[in-house]
Order: sequence, then structure tokens, then C-alpha cells
Amino acid sequence: MKKQIIMLPGDGIGKEIMDGAKQILQTIAQEYNHTFSFHEYAIGGSAIDQYGVPLPDETVEACQNADAVLLGAVGGPKWDSVPVHLRPEQGLLKIRKQLGLFANLRPIKIYPSLLHASPLREEVVSGSDILIIRELTGGLYFGTPSERRNNGNSVVDTLSYERYEMERIIEKAFKTAQTRRKHLTSVDKANVLESSRMWREIVIEKARDYPDVTVEHLLVDAAAMKLITDPNQFDTVVTENLFGDILSDEASVITGSLGMLPSASVRSDGLGLYEPIHGSAPDIAGKGIANPLGMILSAAFMLRNSFGLEEEANEIERAVDEALTAGFHTPDLNVKDGMKVTTKEMTEAILENLSTRSISDSICHMYV
Ligand code: IPM
Ligand code: MG
Repeated sequence: MKKQIIMLPGDGIGKEIMDGAKQILQTIAQEYNHTFSFHEYAIGGSAIDQYGVPLPDETVEACQNADAVLLGAVGGPKWDSVPVHLRPEQGLLKIRKQLGLFANLRPIKIYPSLLHASPLREEVVSGSDILIIRELTGGLYFGTPSERRNNGNSVVDTLSYERYEMERIIEKAFKTAQTRRKHLTSVDKANVLESSRMWREIVIEKARDYPDVTVEHLLVDAAAMKLITDPNQFDTVVTENLFGDILSDEASVITGSLGMLPSASVRSDGLGLYEPIHGSAPDIAGKGIANPLGMILSAAFMLRNSFGLEEEANEIERAVDEALTAGFHTPDLNVKDGMKVTTKEMTEAILENLSTRSISDSICHMYV
């Protein structure tokens, strides 16, 4: 299989973790006879430094023509004083919007070897397997620019959604729930917000087309509480942009670290942008200790979701699982025993597990 992958490392630890993902993908390509070509483009603060804007046109164009996009992270204190519309984060919001990536899938799965690394009790988090589906191109993040203002005494952000924007994400959620445990939790604030009332109405309407999926409506405050008191009651969760942003960071504590979580931002034709859900972590950038797993698992997500390479994706996830089980962990993971390693060493441990497979496979072939 031949694929063209665009890499947008961005800022802070984004660059450090992207290197590892690339190495893993190159090894997979070799093992399975694929040709992956990689092209790097600028986004976020590093694009501001190079081009004066957080999202250069050539970056968007390259992504439009690619088979998939991998993104590290954007932002950092260096750009705190730039005007709001030029902040690094605008690069990320604009690329999501311009590519039409309306559905953000954030799986939260706990690795058995990390059960004790979660600040929550083992018996609470054990077995957790949640998929948060976050609407990504509407809501407060994209309020009408002419209505957005701050005159020093009053400030306005607007939350607006078109009906079709809600319909498409809710449909995506029902379809995805059908491929999982068929339980969909819709999160809103329908006791207060007009937008949430329309959201809930659409969920009720669509539910008639998916009788095999059980639906539950939760207010966002209750959902926030239940996510950490009883994560096992959740399967597929669907919610609007800002609620999804907040709930997914919260849910990451189940897995032991925000650094573990991958994500996919997709549109209907399958084009996807894959990125860890964490930020650019300026406090640890340059130290070589960032957890590369969110990025590496995002690469696996890309193989499965955009290229249909299930076996290759499983292979990366198995190698990650083995490295964790062997005790390797970056300092963000509060693991009792085991070996504290750097970003590079963690990546190497996974690469080694990938090549163990090719060695044991070739031994198997010799005996067949
Ligand atoms: C995320 C991040 C972004 C968001 C920021 C960096 C703009 O927090 O991907 O969750 O809020 O969407
Ligand atoms: Mg976030």
C-alpha cells in the first residue's frame, strides 16, 4: 500500500513525539511492505515564527491532498502576547474547520499494566473502555466573529450550531455505537441552553433509526461526576465541542496520564487528522521526557481508520502494551515499579517489540 502522510509537529513536545511516531510507521512499512512517504509542514507557533501566521496556505493545501495527517501539538508561552486571531491554537482550529473534520473520536482505554497508575481506585477504572465523540467544528469555539467582542467592560462569545452540524455528528455517534457495545450517552445542558435542547431533540429523533442502540441523556455536570465515579457505565459518548474538550481531559485520568490518549478528527469521506489529545506541554518541552504513546497510538489509529490496516494497527498497540507491561514508562505515569525512561527510550522499547515480532515470525516460517 502506498500512502502520503503529512506531519505537522507544531510546538513544544509536538516535535519530540512526532519523531517516534515516524520511526514506528517506517518500521511497520518495512515489515508489511508498504510505502509511506512523509512530508512535514508548519502549524501553530512555529508557523507564526516562520510565516507570520499560525496556518500557512501551503499547509492546508498539502493536507487536502494527503491520505492522512499526523499532528503533534500547538501553543506555548512564547506566543502569549500575539493578537488572539494569530495565536498558535488558531492554527489548529482553522485546520479542523478548513478540512471539515467535524467528528473527533477520543478512545479512553485502560491498559491492565497501568491500573495502579490512575489516581482513581483500581476497581473503579478496571475494564474502562469509552469512546468520546466530540463535535469539532462548531459551538463556542467558532462563535460568529462579528458578535465576538471584548470592550473592556463587557465581553461576548457566541455558541451557535446549524441543525445539520448536530445531525451529522449524532448520526456518526449512533453508527459508531453500533460497532461497539451499543450504548450511547448523549451529553448536553438541556436544562439551561437552547443549543442543548435542539441537540437532545435531534438525538431523540435519530434514536428511532437505531433501535438496537440504547440511549441515555446526561447533563454535562452529572456526566463529569459519573465519568470518574463509575467510568464503566459508559460506552460511546457524544457531545458538543466544548463539553467534549473538557470531558476528554477529565476522562484521561482513568488511563493514568493525559499523555496516553490518541484521537482522530475525521470527515465523511474518511480523510483524518490524528493527534494526541494533550497539548504542547511547554513545561517539559526540550527535556526529552514527554510521553510519546498518545502520538504513537494516534499513528496506529490512522492505520486502522484511514488506511484499513487493522493488523498493522493491532501490532503497534500490542508493542505498546508489551513495553508498558515490561515496566517502561515516562515520568508522567505514576507507576510504582518498572523503569522510568525518556521519550526516545520508550520509542525504542516499542520498536524492539515490533522487531521481536518479525524475528519470531521468521522463526515460525522456518519451521513451517
Ligand atoms: C484539544 C485542545 C485544543 C482544543 C486547544 C489546543 C485549542 O485542548 O485538542 O483538546 O481545545 O480543542
Ligand atoms: Mg483539550
